[in-house]
Amino acid sequence: MYRAIGLGVLLMLLPTLSVSAQPPQRTPPSGGPGARGTTAFEVKTLPKDDIEKQILDVIAEVGANQRAGNMIVPEEDGRLLRAWAEAVGAKHVVEIGTSVGYSGLWFCLVLKKTGGKLTTFEIDERRAAQAKKNFERAGVSDIVTIVLGDAHQTVTQLKEPIDVLFLDADKTGYIDYFEKLSPLVRPGGVVIAHNMTPRSADPRFVKAITTTPEYETVFLHMEGAGVSVSVKKH
Ligand SMILES: C[S@@+](CC[C@H](N)C(=O)[O-])C[C@H]1O[C@@H](n2cnc3c(N)ncnc32)[C@H](O)[C@@H]1O
Repeated sequence: MYRAIGLGVLLMLLPTLSVSAQPPQRTPPSGGPGARGTTAFEVKTLPKDDIEKQILDVIAEVGANQRAGNMIVPEEDGRLLRAWAEAVGAKHVVEIGTSVGYSGLWFCLVLKKTGGKLTTFEIDERRAAQAKKNFERAGVSDIVTIVLGDAHQTVTQLKEPIDVLFLDADKTGYIDYFEKLSPLVRPGGVVIAHNMTPRSADPRFVKAITTTPEYETVFLHMEGAGVSVSVKKH
């Protein structure tokens, strides 16, 4: 009897208890104006050697001074891209939406070590030219190919296997990029898409990555810009 009453009281209190729990602390926004804050812990990428230092210095400068008008990913998402590329041992990263090369530079941290390469697609001439300069300053031009033009057409040139496919251009175009390039993604490779909150994601692409049996999909950083990671099963 007393036990039953006690349980009932506890159940009534549970919503109150969870509401009064402290939410994770938001740290100040990182990565300059326009960047979103990260939750819980402040993280900083430290250079392991001179190659990393040269790339990270340019990442920091671009993040601080070239963010405005170029729609580059927040620093925490750059770190997430790098982490996935490291985890799959990426040798070929394909990026749709170069902008000024910020996310591409995060991938280059990995590709410089794996002996790999980045193929990145951009429609805007000014941004592509700025990306070229940034890749040169970072010392990674030898492993980067910038393809200028409408990626819906130019991606059809690709024939080699892809380890990481990163979608970060026109959101309604993700489904077309996915349908064209998914056959090239190797088993164990990943398709990563940016701006994947319910407000900004294209439902056709969400349906494709969540209902295609060949992929296991998780959604990350949903408190920020939203990132989907779809791993192609072995
Ligand atoms: C969100 S920004 C990319 C940011 C970049 N990934 C970064 O974080 O550094 C999107 C870019 O996609 C480009 N874009 C949009 N539509 C495109 C298309 N059809 N083909 C190629 N690039 C396109 C835009 O010009 C813009 O520079």
